[in-house]
Amino acid sequence: MPTITYRHRGGQQVVEAADGQSLMRAAVGAGVPGIIGQCGGQAVCATCHVYVDAEDLPHLPEVDEDQDDTLEGVPDRRETSRLSCQLVAGDGFDSLTVTVADGG
Ligand code: FES
Repeated sequence: MPTITYRHRGGQQVVEAADGQSLMRAAVGAGVPGIIGQCGGQAVCATCHVYVDAEDLPHLPEVDEDQDDTLEGVPDRRETSRLSCQLVAGDGFDSLTVTVADGG
């Protein structure tokens, strides 16, 4: 099972995610603070916004148009911003560390 480490204001949390599970679902299931998943993973709410580490970018899928449109409305967007509902455990990585964005 892929291991996901979530850094957040209170420290960090390590979660075992099922293959094929989104990082949003894994975080909500484990009670990671700051990951809400309000839209249920439809890439429209940005309450699952995380930053990935720059060195992991080559292993991750490109941001698609829907994700890009949603991230456009996020004031604290960075090049490493991702919607965690669009990151799928096991899709190119066995472990990943992400930082929960302050705004959600
Ligand atoms: Fe809404 Fe990810 S859960 S954009």
